[in-house]
Amino acid sequence: MNIKHTRRSFIQSVSAFGVAGLMPPSVYSQVSSTASNVIRKRAIPGTSEMLPVVGFGSTAAVMQVLQDGPDLLTQLLDTMLSMGASVVDTAPREESIDEAFGKVLQIPRFRDSLFVTSKIGLRRWLAERGVDKEGGIHQIDLTRRFFDRNPADLVQVESMTDIDIHWPTLKELKDRGAARYIGITTSATADHERMEAFMRRENPDFIQVNFSLLEPEAEQRILPLAQDMGMGVLINSPFNGGEFFRVIRGHDLPDWAADFDCETWAQFNLKYILGVSAINTVLTETTRTIHLLDNIGAGFGRLPVAAMRRRIKAHFNSLA
Ligand SMILES: NC(=O)c1ccc[n+]([C@@H]2O[C@H](COP(=O)([O-])OP(=O)(O)OC[C@H]3O[C@@H](n4cnc5c(N)ncnc54)[C@H](OP(=O)(O)O)[C@@H]3O)[C@@H](O)[C@H]2O)c1
Repeated sequence: MNIKHTRRSFIQSVSAFGVAGLMPPSVYSQVSSTASNVIRKRAIPGTSEMLPVVGFGSTAAVMQVLQDGPDLLTQLLDTMLSMGASVVDTAPREESIDEAFGKVLQIPRFRDSLFVTSKIGLRRWLAERGVDKEGGIHQIDLTRRFFDRNPADLVQVESMTDIDIHWPTLKELKDRGAARYIGITTSATADHERMEAFMRRENPDFIQVNFSLLEPEAEQRILPLAQDMGMGVLINSPFNGGEFFRVIRGHDLPDWAADFDCETWAQFNLKYILGVSAINTVLTETTRTIHLLDNIGAGFGRLPVAAMRRRIKAHFNSLA
């Protein structure tokens, strides 16, 4: 599907979803005034493949599919495409849920346009059978069957769990052409040292790590190392599952946020994150189209550079 991410197509898609009237004026004016430009993209190191800088953590929306049907998820994915975003992070769930999710991912416009990550994960299935190599292989096979993406875009070991068991499986997967990229994830700052050691030893194609104004640690060692070693970088937990919004609640966005084309608090955080050039894509999780539009809006316009990033951090710390 050839989607032109123009201001006109964006406004048409917003109208089609009926969300324009639900958006605070600041969000709507921000995304509609910047949608004449394409979303910022960054190349996966060592390739010419470009990833849009804001992506979607799908867990909450996917968990609703069995009970409520696929409409919400479909609307969120269409919203992404209409804005030029394409990265969807997934993790294995109950088989019935992943089967229903897979049916949505196989809709041609999604199958052809999305970059879908998957994981060997912590699902109960593995725990019940004991986490072993065969369990991980079975889990990957199921995801590949349900999602019907061959090769898989990116397969990751979730939270580096039993990494020594599962990493050889991912290497075999890549060697036989069943995965384009392989990587590891963590959302725990306590695991950064272990992640760094693994990066130096195994040189994964991608890392996925927690990084935000609330959890800035990855910028010290993990992100520079990923850049030096030429790894793709995904960022998770940008809002710490919503904690970020509890900190800024009741405070006005400073006027100087306009200097880097920022009109909302979500973008204040996301643009701070994206100010680190090592990062390909920040994954934001939401079940609300209006929030997704707000988040993807951070992929448009200027980004803060060093002095402005220091100002953002100092201001946020004064509120936290
Ligand atoms: N180990 C791992 O591999 C790992 C661990 C954690 C996370 N992740 C990945 O990272 C993704 C994101 O991390 P996360 O799950 O911690 O979620 P998050 O993106 O840090 O925070 C999600 C929360 O923020 C709210 N929110 C999102 N955008 C908003 C906006 N513009 N305005 C106001 N509220 C907003 C959401 O509520 P609403 O639904 O109301 O918008 C939700 O409560 C996950 O989906 C997953 O893909 C991976």
